Amino acid sequence: MTTQNQDTLLLGHTLSLAKNPFETDPLECYVSDSQGGIFMRDGKIYATGTAEDLKSRFKQAKIVDYGSKLIVPGFVDAHVHYPQTAIIASWGKRLIDWLNEYTFPEEMKFHDPFYAKTIAERYLDLAISHGTTTCATYTTIHPESVEAIFQAADTRGMCMVAGKTCMDKNAPNGLMDTAQSAYEDSKRLLETWHGKNRCIYAITPRFAPTSTQEQLTALGQLWAEYPDCLMQTHISEQVEEIAWVKSLYPDTKDYLEAYERVGLLGDRAIYGHAIHLKEREKDRIKDVGASLVHCPTSNSFIGSGLFDMAGLTSRGHKVGLATDTGGGSSFSMLRTMAAAYEVGQLNAGPMHPANLLWLATMGSAQALHLDNQVGSLDVGKYADIVVLDLHSTPAIAQRTNMANDIWSALFPTIMMGDDRAVFDVWVKGQRMKYVNEV
Ligand code: GUN
Ligand code: ZN
Repeated sequence: MTTQNQDTLLLGHTLSLAKNPFETDPLECYVSDSQGGIFMRDGKIYATGTAEDLKSRFKQAKIVDYGSKLIVPGFVDAHVHYPQTAIIASWGKRLIDWLNEYTFPEEMKFHDPFYAKTIAERYLDLAISHGTTTCATYTTIHPESVEAIFQAADTRGMCMVAGKTCMDKNAPNGLMDTAQSAYEDSKRLLETWHGKNRCIYAITPRFAPTSTQEQLTALGQLWAEYPDCLMQTHISEQVEEIAWVKSLYPDTKDYLEAYERVGLLGDRAIYGHAIHLKEREKDRIKDVGASLVHCPTSNSFIGSGLFDMAGLTSRGHKVGLATDTGGGSSFSMLRTMAAAYEVGQLNAGPMHPANLLWLATMGSAQALHLDNQVGSLDVGKYADIVVLDLHSTPAIAQRTNMANDIWSALFPTIMMGDDRAVFDVWVKGQRMKYVNEV
């Protein structure tokens, strides 16, 4: 184990996105060095360059040499539900029934701080072992669930976006708060955690169907009082859900208006799923600069639909990528990139691997307004780093061996890789995945 303050030099094949490949030719967007290095000091990336140059500049540094393995930025998962860790891969339901049958009974358990801590730690250990170093998570209505995830992330030095999930209707007894308690609990939690080390608070109404207008209004007011917080919620995930919102809010033009008219639209808003948006909704979201999050394994698993990546990115929307664990069927951002590729094929056509890596790193970082801290291997950012083994299974290795450039070497790992491909993980300059000795 490397202590936080020890200068450390990682050597290997470095790869990071310097520009957005949805806006420029993907082949002109990346920085890569097959014999590169990352020098880490005090938890941050202090210098990058060739291995030779860094070795001669930082002679006292501890060296960890990964050979030809790939050093990339840690993955950023822009939408997860850590309390659903234990019910991932629950079979046979579409969204509303899946929530009622599996999700709500599990979320009830989080009134118990010991259970909340157990699952928070289990989730983070799984996420890190899959290469995720930053995430934005929903919690449950219980403040204990928020304390548990921030505490567990803080202990690991991780960047964590989280907030109390608020619901005051259409949920079981025992899993509802009120407009007032949602406001007061959220306010207390954000005053405790927002900006503490690497913790960021996101005001979190679950979605329009589980909040009264009074609760949405109270949370909009809270956001106006604390505008540097993020605000995360769901929008237009499934057609039955959209019809339900229409019946609950009959005087709104569309789903977004249920949020917009109570102050829950702004540039620091993050909307998960966003599959069936209408033109007006897209225009408003684009105008204010809010973010959308693509959750492809979830959208297939729950049967929600195909996110329009090509259409939305070409209009200039900010888009992140996410597992949506446990509606999503994986903890892996590699698996999620593969699903995004497949959904792209069913829509507008193939995405370049650079676009997939962008979504899982800088795209998600931008969506969460964290791109000045994480998402690339630039000097000054936190040393949140993943080392990929591009030969992690025989099936992947035999394909990688035929590759003639870095993107065709990485693509089989994107499509077929899992936590076995994640050879090592560094969070804030600390080594987190100890299984592999180099
Ligand atoms: N919409 C409201 N809550 C949820 C949830 O927990 N998961 C998903 N996928 N969609 C939601
Ligand atoms: Zn979700």
